[in-house]
Amino acid sequence: TKQTGYHAWLEFHPIAPGERYDQYAVHSRIVCTEKDEVIRTAVQELSQGIGKLLGKEIRVAESDAGGAVIALGTFGGGNALVDRTFGEETRSAIKPEGFAIKIDQASGSIVVGASSTSGVLYGAFHLLRLFSTKQAVNELDVIENPVNMLRMINQWDNIDGSIERGYAGKSIFFENNRITTDLTRVRDYARLLASSGLNAISINNVNVHKWESKFITGEYLPDVAKVAAVFRSFSIKLFLSVNYASPLEIGGLSTADPLDPAVREWWRAKAAEVYAAIPDFGGFLVKADSENRPGPFTYDRDHADGSNMLAEALKPYGGIVIWRCFVYNCKQDWRDRATDRARAAYDHFKPLDGRFMDNVILQVKNGPMDFQVREPVSPLIGAMETTNQMIEFQITQEYTGQQRHLCYLVPQWKEVLDFETYAKGEGSSIKRIVDGSLHGNKLSGFAAVSNIGDDVNWTGHLLAQANLYGYGRLAWNPDLSAEEIAEEWIRMTFGGDEKLVSVVMSMLMDSWSIYEAYTSPLGVGWMVNPDHHYGPNVDGYEYSKWGTYHFADCHGIGVDRTKATGTGYAAQYKGANYDTYESVESCPDELLLFFHHVPYTHVLHSGQTVIQHIYNTHFEGVERAEQLVARWASLEGSVGELVHKHVGERLAEQAGHAKEWRDMINTYFFRKSGIADALGRKIY
Ligand code: GCU
Repeated sequence: TKQTGYHAWLEFHPIAPGERYDQYAVHSRIVCTEKDEVIRTAVQELSQGIGKLLGKEIRVAESDAGGAVIALGTFGGGNALVDRTFGEETRSAIKPEGFAIKIDQASGSIVVGASSTSGVLYGAFHLLRLFSTKQAVNELDVIENPVNMLRMINQWDNIDGSIERGYAGKSIFFENNRITTDLTRVRDYARLLASSGLNAISINNVNVHKWESKFITGEYLPDVAKVAAVFRSFSIKLFLSVNYASPLEIGGLSTADPLDPAVREWWRAKAAEVYAAIPDFGGFLVKADSENRPGPFTYDRDHADGSNMLAEALKPYGGIVIWRCFVYNCKQDWRDRATDRARAAYDHFKPLDGRFMDNVILQVKNGPMDFQVREPVSPLIGAMETTNQMIEFQITQEYTGQQRHLCYLVPQWKEVLDFETYAKGEGSSIKRIVDGSLHGNKLSGFAAVSNIGDDVNWTGHLLAQANLYGYGRLAWNPDLSAEEIAEEWIRMTFGGDEKLVSVVMSMLMDSWSIYEAYTSPLGVGWMVNPDHHYGPNVDGYEYSKWGTYHFADCHGIGVDRTKATGTGYAAQYKGANYDTYESVESCPDELLLFFHHVPYTHVLHSGQTVIQHIYNTHFEGVERAEQLVARWASLEGSVGELVHKHVGERLAEQAGHAKEWRDMINTYFFRKSGIADALGRKIY
């Protein structure tokens, strides 16, 4: 398994005697008195994990026979060590899913305590992380609470086993138009998710097609319930994506009008049926009036009407509606210069602030377009003071190399989370909006599109596992740095060889900037092949209906989104952000072409002209991609042979493909502008 990456960051590489082994070895007994399902998972994970790390059998007991043990349990749950270790002060500092870990000085025991069973599970995984990254445990005194309440993953899996934007094989959830009967792999996925801190999953694609629409019927619910049970044992709540037009398509009604009493009644009965099968069901995820999916617009109703109807049905059971804001005109005429897709989410949703029920959450993509390598932060996030919002990231690398190219996305997500919105003046960062604290929201959190499939190593490119792990860790605590997360992941996945840690770390940390360098310059985006979105095609989306243009001509390039002369998108930002983006002088280089149309000879803050920047970054990007190959090659012998070969092959493919990007982009702009490379390099 070391050779394949199946166990991902739960590999638990054996610790050699001497290498902290002696310190950990005393903790080879686990004491737990509780029988709850999630606690049983915690005990099982801990005993297996520590067993692998120490290479010995771990005993699990219900009572403490003295000596140094690992004790775990909920406060007041009957474990004497837990109860005597944590005083009132600690207990009151622990939130529902949080935990404390502390050394009992008298016995030398490690004690994990929480107010809930899920907290015990997270505490167990945290302890395993400390062991497998070989941190000192003799002085432990940890208090951890998740910053975000909802930490969710979205599968874009279809019942036929395909995965929309999946780059790692087929679905682990569905095959042959049924829900998978052997749920072993689903269970192993649940472990990975819970160990990184996630607590919610929607298992089917947001584009809900014919058969998937029936997941909420008796035909599929018993099987969905089995999947929910697997996730329940890891304290992960199950959600389903639903088809807005279900009353019509599976209910036999003649309308899906959200204000029609029969439609409302249909959804109420449907909610009752779903909760009868899955009592702790999370709720519905909905893509409506988006990219040809049905929605309330058909009936001249708006998104508040549509989502509230579903929220009302789920409310008696504590369920929630997650309503996506990815709503824009996907039948735009490219000749129409007034319509701007970037504006769409804000224009549609901002006016509805205050109208959503308190069990509706709006899920907003991190940027206004669609998970490009570089976009500004969505101005909708934080702009609705009385509406629950959560952020949506894309772990699957649709526009960032499709898990054939290396692109560690945590640094990109960090930039988004740290972005100052000025929603309530200074101190209004995105992370404080999506954790609910800025506006005091009842519900909030993180969602992201998963990057896994049934490839043995889950993610196609083994190093893309870091994005899945990193997403979970950031959702738990957005203040962790990209480097800290990468280091944890590397040590847990590959072990602690110091050269390996520093080489892989530098590769991950450089990768987003390398990918950006040889692909799309200065925030312009969309220079990809239509449909599958892999590889360069500068005009691929230029004359299409999707609202994705760069407007390159013989003089210049970029989209004028200013209020003064453009589409006015810049004015959706508050305070200093508006001023920064509105002015070509202050707009940051990396977003210049997103906000402004400039001549190729425009001089950037970097001192380069736009055209020379394009040439330079594309030549350098290829060189840097080639260096990735060399850096990885230097690790031969430090990682398993198969893994070394597999990653090496992907990196070689990336370096080759980067040349394709370089030459197409450089040639295109040379032909458009007629301006030669100042350094006289080869342009075709
Ligand atoms: C992108 C992606 C689609 C997906 C959509 C969405 O446009 O290419 O495959 O369905 O996002 O987020 O709904």
